[in-house]
Amino acid sequence: MRSLICVSVTFVLLFMGSSGQSRVKLTNDLNGTASTKCQDMQSKFKQYQDVCKTINENRKLQINIYEALTRNLQLNNSHSQNTIIEHSKTILSKSDLIHKCELESSNKELKLCSLEKTLNSTQIQLSHSNEAIVNITSLNRLLKSELSDQKTKVEEQILAIDELTKLLNTEQIKVRKLNQVNGIQQAELTDSRIRIGALQATAIQSTATIEALNQQIIELKSQLDSRNENIKNLNAIVEGYSSCCKASSCVSFGASNNVHVVKVDGVDEPFEVLCNSQLAGNGWTVIQRRINGELDFYRNWNDYKKGFGSPSGEFFIGLERLYHMTKDTPHQLYIWLEDFNNISKYASFDDFKVASEQQAYALLSLGKHKGTTRNAMRVNTGQKFTTYDRDNDADEINNCAERLHGAWWYDHCGFSNLNGVYKHADLDVDPVNQGIFWVDERFHDADYSLKSVLMMIRPKD
Ligand SMILES: *[C@@H]1O[C@H](CO)[C@@H](O)[C@H](O)[C@H]1NC(C)=O
Ligand SMILES: *[C@@H]1O[C@H](CO)[C@@H](O)[C@H](O)[C@H]1NC(C)=O
Ligand SMILES: *[C@@H]1O[C@H](CO)[C@@H](O)[C@H](O)[C@H]1NC(C)=O
Ligand SMILES: *[C@@H]1O[C@H](CO)[C@@H](O)[C@H](O)[C@H]1NC(C)=O
Ligand SMILES: *[C@@H]1O[C@H](CO)[C@@H](O)[C@H](O)[C@H]1NC(C)=O
Repeated sequence: MRSLICVSVTFVLLFMGSSGQSRVKLTNDLNGTASTKCQDMQSKFKQYQDVCKTINENRKLQINIYEALTRNLQLNNSHSQNTIIEHSKTILSKSDLIHKCELESSNKELKLCSLEKTLNSTQIQLSHSNEAIVNITSLNRLLKSELSDQKTKVEEQILAIDELTKLLNTEQIKVRKLNQVNGIQQAELTDSRIRIGALQATAIQSTATIEALNQQIIELKSQLDSRNENIKNLNAIVEGYSSCCKASSCVSFGASNNVHVVKVDGVDEPFEVLCNSQLAGNGWTVIQRRINGELDFYRNWNDYKKGFGSPSGEFFIGLERLYHMTKDTPHQLYIWLEDFNNISKYASFDDFKVASEQQAYALLSLGKHKGTTRNAMRVNTGQKFTTYDRDNDADEINNCAERLHGAWWYDHCGFSNLNGVYKHADLDVDPVNQGIFWVDERFHDADYSLKSVLMMIRPKD
């Protein structure tokens, strides 16, 4: 800063020096003042520089000292840390020793205490033993005196025994005589024993015979029971037949899920029907049932005409009966389907009517469709019934009954086959589609064979 002031003053003087004579004196004066001032300043500056230098040197010295101190301090620090660590180690080991010593001494104290206890109990035992010895010694004395008493008593008894022995001898002679008599009696006894043994053997045999007879009685009883059961069943059926003439459908039996007998106009004999009130209200007569594949449904015209199977298992009621049941009374049809995941659907129709045999039992009408599955029988309406031996379908090349291995109101051959082949766990694709199928793209296709099917009818309200 000071050297800068000096330069700028010199510059002003130079500038002023270049402007005219009249100002030369003033300039000289100024020049003089300025140069002395500048010299002053320069010397002062030098002084300052010197001071600066000494300060700087002092500073360096101090830094060196500081560094040396710091180094010393650090050295002393690490040294004292080590010393502290060593000391603390020593202290720790000593305190360990003290702890051990304490433990040992407390152990020793414990031992001492237990030894004292033992000693005390031993002393007590000793005093007890002493007492016992004194007691035994006195007892001994007592026993000794008693023993001598007993001795004299025994001696007296020996004398008595001697006398008794003599008496015994005379008695023995008497006994020997009696024994001779006894021998004869014993022979008789043995004889009796043999007889008793024989009687016992007979008794055992008789027991076995009685047991066998008991077994026979039990068997006969169970036979009798099962016959009684049969008679009861027959009675029920007979009763059913005798009261049947009043009933022409399951409507007469209300909330029933049992087998009943009905008499339908036009059908000669009364027949058994299965009623259902579980799926869609009371009064439904089941006309077809597939539940487990126990029955072959690939049958001829005559079988489908007359019906087959049993109302308590799988069956088809028969086309001739269906014709007469639906001939004069309008009927509803209810079809229930269940797959192997136990998912069930239904389709119901409000005007089910089957034609006569002359018209090949044609499906005259189905009526309006309702339900949780689509109407897969739409194309069957108006179609005649076809079996493998009676081709009435609309397909000119195939017999659809043969092709789908069933019997139905086939057209070309259609989207339903409820009399098809029962496949026991059909979750796979059926390449020939001969199973029990009902085509509904939201449920199953023709390659899925259903687990259960129920077809039932009820007179329209
Ligand atoms: C100013 O002074 C210096 C010496 O002090 C001298 O040499 C110089 O000639 C002077 N300048 C003028 C213009 O008088
Ligand atoms: C470091 O210790 C030495 C001796 O052990 C001693 O002379 C010196 O003064 C100590 N330094 C400091 C900074 O305490
Ligand atoms: C042993 O007996 C003495 C005197 O009878 C008693 O003072 C002491 O407490 C006893 N010691 C123990 C451990 O029971
Ligand atoms: C010794 O005999 C006395 C008196 O009969 C009895 O009280 C005591 O328990 C006996 N001592 C022993 C150790 O049997
Ligand atoms: C279907 O129901 C039957 C009888 O209730 C049962 O045994 C079977 O495990 C069920 N199957 C499935 C896939 O839920």
